[in-house]
Amino acid sequence: MISVRELTKVYRQPARDVVALDNINLDIDDGEIHGIIGRSGAGKSTLVRCLTLLDRPTEGKVIVGDQDLTGVTDTELRNARRRIGMVFQHANLLSSRTVADNIAMPLEIVKTHKAERRARAKELIDLVGLSGLEDTYPAQLSGGQRQRVGIARALAADPDVLLCDEPTSALDPATTNEILTLIRSVSSRLNLTVVVITHEMSVVKTLCDSVSLLDDGKILESGKLAEVAGKVNSRLSRALLPLPTHELAAADLVLEVVGKQDAVNVPIASHIAEENPVTVHITAANVETLGDTRFAHYLLAISSAEQINITGIEATLARHGYSERARAKEGVQV
Ligand SMILES: Nc1ncnc2c1ncn2[C@@H]1O[C@H](COP(=O)(O)OP(=O)(O)O)[C@@H](O)[C@H]1O
Ligand SMILES: [Mg+2]
Repeated sequence: MISVRELTKVYRQPARDVVALDNINLDIDDGEIHGIIGRSGAGKSTLVRCLTLLDRPTEGKVIVGDQDLTGVTDTELRNARRRIGMVFQHANLLSSRTVADNIAMPLEIVKTHKAERRARAKELIDLVGLSGLEDTYPAQLSGGQRQRVGIARALAADPDVLLCDEPTSALDPATTNEILTLIRSVSSRLNLTVVVITHEMSVVKTLCDSVSLLDDGKILESGKLAEVAGKVNSRLSRALLPLPTHELAAADLVLEVVGKQDAVNVPIASHIAEENPVTVHITAANVETLGDTRFAHYLLAISSAEQINITGIEATLARHGYSERARAKEGVQV
């Protein structure tokens, strides 16, 4: 649905040029919810603006559906943009207009008839869970309700794609969850392809099917949630499956291991101790489900009266579906 090819954006500045996006490649399937995570200044908002050509890429292509937006006329671009709904951190509603009139704004711009606008707004108000509030004003709404109006307005022109830039960054955790649930449900009901920009991993975990890590204008890692979470030496994996705060393990060897699906039900610490002349202590653990995949992530402190045979322990791990993510000697944090 969305393909980004060798996208580069350079802001020319008198002092020095800023390379905000550096050779970005990205493919997002129809109906997929894709998260783009990165810290402040990574280039996230620039990427969103380039996806809609609100900002002209310096180089590269943005293909939405089968249309290369970098190669179309202004009129074609205006039409293409109607197929892309935008949701921002703040809904930026017009305070002098009712909920229904705010939602109908994109339809006014394309001169849709008043009765039709009203009917469409009503439909969307029901869809986002604000039934009965059509004639209220933004000042009377909570932050979460205002963001629901923002989402309804983004859906007014019946888009194929929803672009959300930090949609929940101004909301409390409970409201964040409600809004993420709403985005997920409208996406599946309307078969929308969704791109969510965020600096919060919890948003990715709750909402997304796939994720890309953007850092300093580059995509460092990208893939389905369950795939990237299982990878060794992956920054996304560490962020998706964090271990709780733990003490340094006093042991001859400290191993960080990850197993998924059936391996989660395996008593891996017992197996290591049974199959090797060692004792195993679980120092920290995180067992959770990402997408449809269960993961177990353990920090194991291993000790022995003898020289430790790492090959034997690795064979045990592999046999029971675990991979080693990191290894350290006593007193070293992993
Ligand atoms: N209009 C602009 N002119 C110059 N530099 C910009 C402009 N917009 C963004 N930048 C720079 O590009 C980089 C990425 O910014 P941005 O896309 O806003 O990051 P994010 O949304 O991830 O916080 C930053 O270094 C920022 O200072
Ligand atoms: Mg930003």
